[in-house]
Amino acid sequence: MDSDSRPRVFATRSLPGGALEALTGELELEVWPGPGAPAPEVLARAVAGAAGLLCLLTDRVDAPLLASCPELRVVSSCSVGVDHVDLAVATRRGIPVGHTPGVLTETTADLAFSLLMAAARRIPEADRFVREGHWTPARSWEPDLMLGRDVYGSTLGVIGLGAIGRAVARRAQGFGMRVLGWNRTPGKAPPGVEQVPLDALLRQSAFVSVHVARTDETIGLLGPRELAFLPSGAVLVNTARGGIVDEVALVEALRSGRLAGAGLDVYEQEPLPPDSPLLAAPGLVLAPHIGSASVATRTRMAELSIANLRAGLAGERLPHCANPEVYDAHSEEGQRARKSRGETTRAPR
Ligand code: DGY
Repeated sequence: MDSDSRPRVFATRSLPGGALEALTGELELEVWPGPGAPAPEVLARAVAGAAGLLCLLTDRVDAPLLASCPELRVVSSCSVGVDHVDLAVATRRGIPVGHTPGVLTETTADLAFSLLMAAARRIPEADRFVREGHWTPARSWEPDLMLGRDVYGSTLGVIGLGAIGRAVARRAQGFGMRVLGWNRTPGKAPPGVEQVPLDALLRQSAFVSVHVARTDETIGLLGPRELAFLPSGAVLVNTARGGIVDEVALVEALRSGRLAGAGLDVYEQEPLPPDSPLLAAPGLVLAPHIGSASVATRTRMAELSIANLRAGLAGERLPHCANPEVYDAHSEEGQRARKSRGETTRAPR
């Protein structure tokens, strides 16, 4: 392909296995070298004039950014969650947003269950105990050393019965657990899951795992009132998004001993600030947003995000589009918006 006709694409990070770099023949590709995400002003400069943006969940693709990129034909995020992209604005502007559902379901469910087990059986604390030399002959086996909570046969509450919540429920069933579920839009419960109101789920669950998307409705879903419903000694896990569980209330519940433990992979602010009270909360197992971090899954995510990018650049329907309404409602709404900006109508780009 003649280099002048190659669409310009900005990628905010390299993807596993050099998957992006393999596209340099067909794209005029600029890859942010890192480390970390480009600052918002760097992103805005880099993406102005680009036809495609390949981004991660650390990049804010908001209204001002989208307004400053009139050439943009597709946003492809290498993530399943798209709360970092203003989908409504993208739709109005006729820009399809790609994401990576399906491929990270089981990997993220594995991590949720790992955090649940680690918090229940105090694994990080046990590891520190051995490494720090506390496991001495005088304490070689004690009846009350590191007593945790039984997972097998207890009750798990799954908040959010989408693909990942259901995958966690299946794991729990293998552990002989009773599984309760709650969904914001009640539908058919998965096999073996009793659908109950949120308050009832919290009151009856020794373990709770959070799997709802972060939206205006789910921010602060588990605040002081909701955490107070949990039975004493419960364990809470969040691998969905920060802000759904109120961190101040969680720290308080752990400090007071009402919660026996918790496992978090996601936070209100990422990375976790060094002075975060979470770092000193007892019984809390922390992970740095690694829910989908297996070699195979990250490779599949890279493949899907490239497939979305290519389709968008070619003007084809994205295989995995987070704002499919861009293809229907878009036409009228988007065309009106573009007309009012004096742009030529292209539906969708
Ligand atoms: C996502 O994709 O949204 C996860 O949080 C990270 O893989």
